[in-house]
Amino acid sequence: MLEINQNQKEFWNGPGGEAWVTGQETLDSAMRPVTDVLLKAADVKSTDRVTDIGCGTGETTLEIARHAASALGVDVSAPMLALAKERAEQAGLSNVQFEQRDVQTEELQADATLAMSRFGVMFFEDSVAAFANIRRQMVSDGRLCFACWKTPRENTWVSLPMSIVRQHVQDDTPPDPHAPGPFAFADDTRVRSILEEAGWKDVELNPVEFDMAWGESPEAAAHGLIERGPLRRIFVGDPSISEETKQAIIKGIQDALPPSDGGIFLKGAIWIVTAKAG
Ligand SMILES: C[S@@+](CC[C@H](N)C(=O)[O-])C[C@H]1O[C@@H](n2cnc3c(N)ncnc32)[C@H](O)[C@@H]1O
Repeated sequence: MLEINQNQKEFWNGPGGEAWVTGQETLDSAMRPVTDVLLKAADVKSTDRVTDIGCGTGETTLEIARHAASALGVDVSAPMLALAKERAEQAGLSNVQFEQRDVQTEELQADATLAMSRFGVMFFEDSVAAFANIRRQMVSDGRLCFACWKTPRENTWVSLPMSIVRQHVQDDTPPDPHAPGPFAFADDTRVRSILEEAGWKDVELNPVEFDMAWGESPEAAAHGLIERGPLRRIFVGDPSISEETKQAIIKGIQDALPPSDGGIFLKGAIWIVTAKAG
C-alpha cells in the first residue's frame, strides 16, 4: 500500500529535489518578483512566528526570518532542506529552523501567527486535510498567504514551449487539472472551496503577472526550460522521444523566443491567496 503523498515524496526526494537544488540560484532569481509580492501581501510583523509551507531550499523562509520573530520551514524533501539549512548557517540567522514534515499529516509549529508559501501548497493528495492541519496549529487570528500558479495557458513559460512540443510529439492523454502538481490550484473557485472547507475565513485571490527571467539568450532559455521547466518531464523523463525530435523541439523553441537585449523573459501568472484562521 502507498503511504500518504508517497509519489510526491519520491519526486521531491529524487529528480524534483535535485533540479531545485542544482537550480536554486537561477530559480530564486527568476521568481524574485513572486517573493517580493508575496512578502508584501503577507505583511510580516516583527512579532510573527511564521511557518513556511513546502519551503524547499529556503529562499522565502530566510527572507521572512529577517523580518519576523522566528521562521520554521517545513518540507518533505531531504536534499532541499539540507541546502536550506546550509544557507541559514551561511546567513548567520539564528531565528530560523527547518524540519522534514508532511504538511498534510504531521505536527508543524504550535501557535504560528502566519503560514505562508511560495508554490509549496499544490502537491497534497488531500488539500482540505492539509489546510485544516495548518489552521489547527495556528493562533485564532492567524493569517495565511501563499502564491500558486494560474493555468498553464496563462503562463507563457509553459504554453510557449508546450506548443512547440505538440508540433513534434502526440500526447492524447488529457491531464487531470486537479491532480497534485504545479497547476492544481489554478482554478480560483476550487481554491476558495478547499480553504473554506478547511475552516479558513475571508479567502481572497488576487491575480498577479510578472516577467520570469529564463536566461541571457534563446539557447540559455531553452536549456533552462529543459533543466528546470516544463520540458524536463519530456527530455529527462521520457525515453521514448528520439534525440532527433528533442533537437527539433529545442530549435523550435529557440526560434520562437522573443528576441531581447536584456535577456529572455516569459510571462508568469499567479494567484496571491490570503485568508484568516478565525
Ligand atoms: C515547487 S517547490 C517550491 C519550493 C519553495 N517553496 C520555493 O519556492 O523555492 C514545492 C515544494 O513543496 C514541497 N512539498 C510537496 N508536498 C509536500 C508535503 N506534503 N509536505 C511538505 N512539503 C511538501 C516539495 O518538497 C517542494 O519543496
